[in-house]
Amino acid sequence: MVNIAQDLLVSENNANDHFSKIASNYKELRTTDVDHIEYIKKLLDKKSNIDIADVGCGDGRYSLEILKSFENCYLHCIDFNENMIEHLKNYLTKKKFTNFCARAGDARKLSLENDSMDSIMTFNAIHHFDLDKFFSESNEILKDDGQLIIYTRLRNQNYKSIWGKYFPLFGDMETRLYELNELEECAENADLKIKSTRVFGHVRTSSLERLVQQAKGNHYSTFALYDEETFDESLEIFQKNMQKNFSNLEQITWHDENILLEIVK
Ligand SMILES: C[S@@+](CC[C@H](N)C(=O)[O-])C[C@H]1O[C@@H](n2cnc3c(N)ncnc32)[C@H](O)[C@@H]1O
Repeated sequence: MVNIAQDLLVSENNANDHFSKIASNYKELRTTDVDHIEYIKKLLDKKSNIDIADVGCGDGRYSLEILKSFENCYLHCIDFNENMIEHLKNYLTKKKFTNFCARAGDARKLSLENDSMDSIMTFNAIHHFDLDKFFSESNEILKDDGQLIIYTRLRNQNYKSIWGKYFPLFGDMETRLYELNELEECAENADLKIKSTRVFGHVRTSSLERLVQQAKGNHYSTFALYDEETFDESLEIFQKNMQKNFSNLEQITWHDENILLEIVK
């Protein structure tokens, strides 16, 4: 039991070090999609003056999209990593938004009032959380007609990504992601239920040079799980795999998939 708790702590500390290192250029490394934000806008169509929490908000790239989409909202941005929070504050302030607050905090204990949030959203982050605690915390904090919106990639979607297919060990190394039935079970354990799911597919095009730059920059925290030697070897093999499978290395095209879950009380 103690060992499990210690292992969790070590892996959380490693992830936090990783996010501290990449906070300053996180937005440049990741691809920001907006179709799921449009979809969320439709889901929350009838609500006005809403309180939203963005948990695991990172440097604020999706917090910005939420603020742009919901003119009358107040957004509570929460992230474990203080560097990310500092970048988010500068970013949203530069964009002239004032209807938000941001602070370092843990998804396990959000320190928001019970029955206070119309919506809790989290993008690309639940695999870093203690999910059982996050779900029961969300249940307390959400208003009765509120919803928890989770945007993530499932384990099988990760295997099908360009990294899962061509970068050695990528899929196997990333054990933190969930499958849909696991999320369903965790939600049920916290007296929540999945009301709807929607898969978002994206056609991506990139040069090999950019892909290598992203992997070296650890744009997915999965890369931080490799030791240096294994990473270097895997990167070599990845580049050979790309040369074998794609004729134009300036324009490599593939298909990425994510899922959005709408979870209610
Ligand atoms: C992959 S990033 C996603 C950031 C942002 N949502 C986005 O899509 O750009 C995951 C974020 O979750 C944060 N995080 C990890 N564990 C957390 C926890 N227990 N509570 C709150 N945030 C956490 C990390 O610091 C990191 O900023």
